[in-house]
Amino acid sequence: MTMPHIERVFLRNYKSVEKCDIALEPLTILAGRNGVGKSNIIDSLRFVADSLRNTLEFAIRERGGIDHVRRKSLGGRPTNPGVAIILRFGDGTVATYSFRIAAAEGRAFRVDRESCEVRDANGNPRHAFATRDGSAVRSWTPSSAPPAVAEDRLFLVAASGTPEFRPVFDHLQRMTFHNLNPEAMKLPQRPAPGALLLHDGRNLASVIKQLDPVSRDRVLEYLRAIGVPLTRIEHKQAGALETIEVAQEQQVPEGVRNSTFDAIALSDGTIRAMGILVSLLSAGPGVKDGPTLIGIEEPETALHPAAAGALMDALTEGATRAQILTTCHSPDLLDHPSVTAKMIRPVLLENGRTRVGVLSQPKANLLQEHLSTAGELLRLDQLEPDPDDLRRQEEAKDTLFEHAA
Ligand SMILES: Nc1ncnc2c1ncn2[C@@H]1O[C@H](COP(=O)(O)OP(=O)(O)OP(=O)(O)O)[C@@H](O)[C@H]1O
Ligand SMILES: [Mg+2]
Repeated sequence: MTMPHIERVFLRNYKSVEKCDIALEPLTILAGRNGVGKSNIIDSLRFVADSLRNTLEFAIRERGGIDHVRRKSLGGRPTNPGVAIILRFGDGTVATYSFRIAAAEGRAFRVDRESCEVRDANGNPRHAFATRDGSAVRSWTPSSAPPAVAEDRLFLVAASGTPEFRPVFDHLQRMTFHNLNPEAMKLPQRPAPGALLLHDGRNLASVIKQLDPVSRDRVLEYLRAIGVPLTRIEHKQAGALETIEVAQEQQVPEGVRNSTFDAIALSDGTIRAMGILVSLLSAGPGVKDGPTLIGIEEPETALHPAAAGALMDALTEGATRAQILTTCHSPDLLDHPSVTAKMIRPVLLENGRTRVGVLSQPKANLLQEHLSTAGELLRLDQLEPDPDDLRRQEEAKDTLFEHAA
């Protein structure tokens, strides 16, 4: 039985992406020059998680309004952003979930189409729903009565009340995304739910509190490999707030001394690395409510190049616990022998549009035959997408977004 995971993501008119169809691996690395749209791709999944956890309205507002979510087209023609996801569960069940948003007059929007189809391991349809124009349920197969549709909400939130669609909702709303902020991580925080590390990492103490001792030791081992010899990390209550306390070995003339520090005393690189490791190890088949997918922006930030190997080891182990999607500008990270051609998704900007695909065959061959590493190709700016894959995406029909008769 394999871990439940996202097989493919289809995007339409999401920020700089006009059209893309990207296969996700256990560990997927988006690589490309500045401003090509790597973060936009990751943000599309975060948008789904935000819309399910909070509301669609909140997710749009947090991004500056519908005009920042939908792709700005050169001709000024309004575009309708859409996301579709193919999700495979451990028992072979496959769910296809999609929605498209239409901008209405002014700053308003409505859910134009939304659907979810669940098929069993033999490909037989089991459950489905489809809504149209944010106002009507066009199909609904569970025997229970369908919940009400609201044009500014994702119907999946309401449908998650049924056992048929609950697993889809649960998986997608447990995706978590990080662009860690050391300042926020170091300050004592109000207790927050601790199953998922938040975007900026500010609830680090809560998540550490929930880690089992074995995973906590693993965090320490990786930190030591990265070059930070901590011997202990503890959650610490400070009145109504919580923070962490660490013990660190220090060389003194008399030998080795163990000193304790609060989070505020930790270096930026240390606390960022700790955040990434804690998030990776907070996932796992046995962990209730842990992350299903972890999106990490530039995990190498603030780390010494010599730590890259240990960081990639941690990402590789993390990918056996949750799916990982990351951006990366570090050749040192991509030099790691575990990085294969399959993991790399080169991203580029063409006529203002983000294109992303699998690695081109000649470059994949170089990696397979160990004539080069992904890091060397990144240094030479030679991580290029496969033209056939880009053509296939360009020519693909919009069927996923045109469902719901
Ligand atoms: N609504 C939109 N419509 C069209 N293009 C957009 C929209 N929003 C953002 N962009 C474009 O997306 C690009 C930025 O993409 P993104 O932040 O994903 O880059 P990146 O690949 O992550 O870069 P970096 O490596 O510097 O982080 C910019 O070129 C910006 O103009
Ligand atoms: Mg970015």
